[in-house]
Amino acid sequence: MKTIRVNLSDDSYNIFIDKGILKGIGDMLAKEKQPCKTLLITDKNIDRIYSHIVTESLAQHGFRVKSFTLTPGEDQKSLETAMILYEACFDHKLDRSSLIVALGGGVAGDMSGFVAATFMRGIPFIQIPTSLLAQVDSSIGGKVAVNHPRGKNMIGSFYQPLAVFIDTETLSTLPAIELVTGLVEVIKYGVIKDAELFEYIEKSLYDILQLDQKALLKIIATSCQIKADIVAEDEKEKHVRAILNYGHTIGHAIEALTHYKKYRHGEAVAIGMLYAARIAVEMGLTGSTVFERQLSLVKRLGLPLSTGLKPKDIIKTLYLDKKAVSGKLRFVLPTGIGEVIISDQVTEEILSHVLTGNFV
Ligand SMILES: NC(=O)c1ccc[n+]([C@@H]2O[C@H](COP(=O)([O-])OP(=O)(O)OC[C@H]3O[C@@H](n4cnc5c(N)ncnc54)[C@H](O)[C@@H]3O)[C@@H](O)[C@H]2O)c1
Ligand SMILES: [Zn+2]
Repeated sequence: MKTIRVNLSDDSYNIFIDKGILKGIGDMLAKEKQPCKTLLITDKNIDRIYSHIVTESLAQHGFRVKSFTLTPGEDQKSLETAMILYEACFDHKLDRSSLIVALGGGVAGDMSGFVAATFMRGIPFIQIPTSLLAQVDSSIGGKVAVNHPRGKNMIGSFYQPLAVFIDTETLSTLPAIELVTGLVEVIKYGVIKDAELFEYIEKSLYDILQLDQKALLKIIATSCQIKADIVAEDEKEKHVRAILNYGHTIGHAIEALTHYKKYRHGEAVAIGMLYAARIAVEMGLTGSTVFERQLSLVKRLGLPLSTGLKPKDIIKTLYLDKKAVSGKLRFVLPTGIGEVIISDQVTEEILSHVLTGNFV
């Protein structure tokens, strides 16, 4: 079992990672929290495979569990769903000593976290992430949010869980495309902070995709440690946390322009990382191998390499992004594998030149 501490003074918590920990979750949780009324929030895909394991283990340790099952999908991450979940909280008579359990991918996690943060001004919650993206990214760091018709994740808060429990075996039922797109975030951690992790992915990609449990434990624990360290340094994204947005600046523009329908998040981010790496090479910040190594991994994952979008449309959308600071674009750019800088020196000329090229 790997235990990673997220150091946030009063809001510090542990991330527990191992294969098969779901069935012992009640025992582990009882060490963190008195048994109490508990609302388990999950989605239909996960409910049929995992809810009973979690519910039984929690019940054995005195937690009184009711569950609520969401329809899977990003469009469930809304204020309307929050209202329905508040009803479930009232029906189950939750109070500030109760618990919300998020079991699922990033949608269930963000949705549950948002409800936990806001019901009675905040009740404790834990995360049991079951998708690779949720295990290495969305379950850590306390960003909770729902979507608004005018923008994704626009209504939210920072609210830390009591603990995060990651069972690497849950990835055995995750659709292959979700595994591959989740892996893009792991590659991102390698580029921004950890050359050794990047190299490990290059060497062990086959094992990872075959769900070798040792390889999964290694990449997930390393990713969680990197995110935990960054969040501990900058919980509210005032400075260094922004490096987690590597590949996301252009990635978000691609997602927005294609109305979040054509590309999965990880696909758009992978293309965004390649563009960002190319920009860095163009600006003389790094050598071309930094770009080529990322390109090679993205190719091996079988992810798309182009979008067919017009550079001028991408650029226009970049300026609309909520992360553009007072009209200036900010990019996270690699200066090597494992090192990035935040730059507002990317000119429209470089951008347009790079966006006009392709990666084949
Ligand atoms: N809070 C944050 O810091 C943060 C960071 C990154 C992403 N996010 C959010 O995360 C969401 C995306 O998360 P996601 O990719 O996990 O999406 P998701 O929750 O929709 O899960 C993807 C799909 O996989 C299924 N699934 C998940 N785990 C499974 C398992 N073990 N077995 C079988 N099926 C399984 C789900 O039912 C769903 O159909 C987005 O809403 C995004 O905004 C939040
Ligand atoms: Zn992401």
